[in-house]
Amino acid sequence: MIRPDIIRDILETARIEEVVGDFVSLRKRGANLVGLCPFHNEKTPSFNVSPARGIYKCFGCGKAGSAVNFVMEHEHYSYPDALRYLARKYNIRIEEKEQTAEELQALNEQESLYHVNTFAQKFFSELMFQTEEGRALGLKYFSERGFREDTVKKFELGYSPEKQDHFTRYALDNGYNLDYLLKTGLTIRSEEGRLYDRFRSRVIFPIHNLTGRVIGFGGRIRTSAENKPKYINSPESDIYNKSKVLYGIFFAKNAIIRQDNCYLVEGYTDVISLHQAGIENVVSSSGTSLTTDQIKLIKRFTRNITILYDGDPAGIKASFRGIDMILEEGMNVKIVLFPENEDPDSYVRKHRTSEVEALLHSGANDFIVFKTNLLLREAAGDPIKRASLIKEIVQSIALIPDAIFRTVYVKECASVMNMPEQTLMNELNKILRQNFNKKMETYRPQIYPDEQVYPAEKQITEDPNLCEYQEKDIIRIMLLYGEQTIPANGNDSMDVISVAGFIVHDLSIDDLTFQNPYYQFIFDDFQKEMEKGRIPSEKDYVNHADPSVAQLAIDLVSTPYELSDGWSKNLILVKVETEILKEAVLSAVLAFKAKKVDQMIIRNQQDLKAAADEEEIMALLTEQMKLKGISREINARLGRIVTK
Ligand code: GTP
Ligand code: MN
Repeated sequence: MIRPDIIRDILETARIEEVVGDFVSLRKRGANLVGLCPFHNEKTPSFNVSPARGIYKCFGCGKAGSAVNFVMEHEHYSYPDALRYLARKYNIRIEEKEQTAEELQALNEQESLYHVNTFAQKFFSELMFQTEEGRALGLKYFSERGFREDTVKKFELGYSPEKQDHFTRYALDNGYNLDYLLKTGLTIRSEEGRLYDRFRSRVIFPIHNLTGRVIGFGGRIRTSAENKPKYINSPESDIYNKSKVLYGIFFAKNAIIRQDNCYLVEGYTDVISLHQAGIENVVSSSGTSLTTDQIKLIKRFTRNITILYDGDPAGIKASFRGIDMILEEGMNVKIVLFPENEDPDSYVRKHRTSEVEALLHSGANDFIVFKTNLLLREAAGDPIKRASLIKEIVQSIALIPDAIFRTVYVKECASVMNMPEQTLMNELNKILRQNFNKKMETYRPQIYPDEQVYPAEKQITEDPNLCEYQEKDIIRIMLLYGEQTIPANGNDSMDVISVAGFIVHDLSIDDLTFQNPYYQFIFDDFQKEMEKGRIPSEKDYVNHADPSVAQLAIDLVSTPYELSDGWSKNLILVKVETEILKEAVLSAVLAFKAKKVDQMIIRNQQDLKAAADEEEIMALLTEQMKLKGISREINARLGRIVTK
């Protein structure tokens, strides 16, 4: 917990050109610096650094951000870790905020749970390597499965003895608190109060978090006893949230970055076998269906997922929903189908690494095409099924945030299905519209880091009902010129008002809101800060803790931009400039209002069409006339400014 004033200190001290310069060699070009982009391969430099704005932007791959973003992106650090890095670089002392007694206790408790787990992991490993029982039952099991000793050691595998409370006794004897043994689930207390070990006579797979700490365990039965589950797992605890971890992520993360792809498998043993064969960018959801949190975890390292399937078509179909969630995150999904009755683990054991690699590469199908083919086969000769198939495919395509990719898929699927592109396109647009309306009802900005890396803006620009352009204009002006002053509306020509003040005041009088939740968030934030007597600046948002907000702000302030005709930032006459700024602000506000009124008119007309009784129709018509009057007035004022 870094104190807010220190965060501000760090952000103000860090020079973007120095921070980037530690990793990229930069050359001066005009007011900016350029270099080869570290985020994609290029031969001619398109990576720009603007010392004045404190931001970088690559015109090749589109990556952009502040000094903090750069460190997060380049080093894969979290926001606080990036701040700590910068603090070290600039010799800024971070006194982490004093923690309250409760915070400390919660932290201590978590720390204790980690300790117990580490202790247990060591116990299980040592027991396997150093006791007769362990070697005969544990190590032998793994070696029979083909796991080499270095693999066993790397994954910290172990064995839990048969005796019912062997571990619990040993832990208590070593001074570990029973409370923590119960909370990690390593020990279970029966109703009569007897203590026994959760894992008995099983081979043990420790589950590591992203930083390599043990947060839980999976235990596999050694023999195929019918009446017992094959695997048992630690229960959830303060440090183990099943829906947020992926087995193997700690061992895989660097390889995932290097390969820019992540293989997703079903089981512990699949992860380990592939690793042993040299394919290290692999994680497992451990038998459960994939969650959004798990997808986001992968997305921190790559945008490409390849799912390795060993299932039958029915099983694969059941997982389509999970795959849709991946598409929704804007990630690319491929599928590799394994031969019947083979999972990655068994396949690796029977084939040479080169053969495994060949299957992973040449057997990979794009998910949308894969799904189309699978459903198409099912619907063969059944026209009704075929119709519902179109819907299903298009529903998946509609989830892809990027419009260009969607179009590519429509083309591809149309050709696979042998049907006109336009048919699919129409269906797609219908679904997009429905989804959009649904989204708008429930969409709220998220203000947590890690949540949504790409701004909502990208997903919603297509809709004709949106006033994206006008909303963007307002927010951009607030970010770039919010602190500057313009002449106030009044008789006294000496009266001035800040641009931000003018806009906030003018829009709130009319109760106008933004459709894009991020714009609304920034607008509300301005309002809140200004009530406290401070006008926010672009730096506040460019460095915002929520990456979506930061990204949006960066896009807004770094995109080359022209205000309405006749306005140029380069005019030097100060007096004229403030006049011009005022006109720019006024015209942006008026354009925004004009668009809002137009939308109200459209809505009113729709209501009119649906209206049934006369009274309602009259009321709506009156409203219609009023709105048209307002629209005319706004447009007249707008016209006067723009054409002047
Ligand atoms: P092996 O049979 O040892 O090769 O394991 P596997 O990984 O091939 O197992 P399988 O394909 O049957 O299951 C995939 C994953 O589902 C496993 O790695 C476990 O995480 C999980 N799983 C399988 N069986 C059980 C079970 O009985 N209980 C629980 N909780 N999870 C299971
Ligand atoms: Mn298996």
